[in-house]
Amino acid sequence: MFMSKIIVLIGAPGAGKGTQARLLESRLGIPQISTGDMFREMKNSDTRLAREVQEIMASGKLVPDALTYEMVRERTARPDCRATFVLDGFPRTAVQAEMLESLSDELGKPVVAIQIDVPMEILEKRLTGRRSCPECGEIYNIFFKAPKSEGYCDLHPRAELVQRADDTEEKVKVRLETYEDNTKPLLEYYRSSGRLETVDGSRDPEEIYKEIESLIGSANATV
Ligand code: AP5
Repeated sequence: MFMSKIIVLIGAPGAGKGTQARLLESRLGIPQISTGDMFREMKNSDTRLAREVQEIMASGKLVPDALTYEMVRERTARPDCRATFVLDGFPRTAVQAEMLESLSDELGKPVVAIQIDVPMEILEKRLTGRRSCPECGEIYNIFFKAPKSEGYCDLHPRAELVQRADDTEEKVKVRLETYEDNTKPLLEYYRSSGRLETVDGSRDPEEIYKEIESLIGSANATV
């Protein structure tokens, strides 16, 4: 019988974690838990905490571990996470990885970490070229995945695509450094415990998806 898992997508900013997580959700019904998306949603609430989070994100640095974990815990306690779910952007620090071990024990779901590996020189274009639909969140890229009509969503033709505040060249540099310092060491953490798979993320998204799908045993993933 298939065992539910916690799938962790790890990769530098722009590696394609969101793109792949969204495919897993739409095609296999595996919920995408994106800490970045959850923090971005906070911009709609006018509280001191929400403003602090927006400032941290805009700087390219990381939101404090305790707050991040609280959000993940709350979100993964919802009914749609009873079976397998995918974490997109969590854990990002050694402390968060420890927190995830407790959650994994508590839920009785093993962690499978999948690294999406992309050379640094490609990442910059992916990030500075990224645009998204404010209505449905669909992601485009002006260099690699342009919408049919320039500046507008294919699915919502009246919705003008927007650029993330942290996708400017200056902020991208900080985010890539933050990844090198805080998150890259987690690869060794998962590798040394035999829980790391690596996929070449410089290929076509569909090819990457097929490999990820086979790694997680798609046929029974939502059982
Ligand atoms: P988050 O939203 O998680 O951003 P990120 O990790 O910087 O990752 P991105 O969303 O930029 O990239 P991605 O890997 O998802 O790539 P995507 O699929 O979009 O975090 C934002 C901020 O929130 C952080 O900086 C931090 O402040 C805070 N935060 C979040 N989680 C946190 C945590 N755990 N702890 C503390 N703070 C946290 O693709 C990128 C582009 O490339 C798109 O244009 C896409 O179309 C294109 N693309 C994707 N795949 C391909 C491909 N195979 N070929 C060609 N183009 C592709």
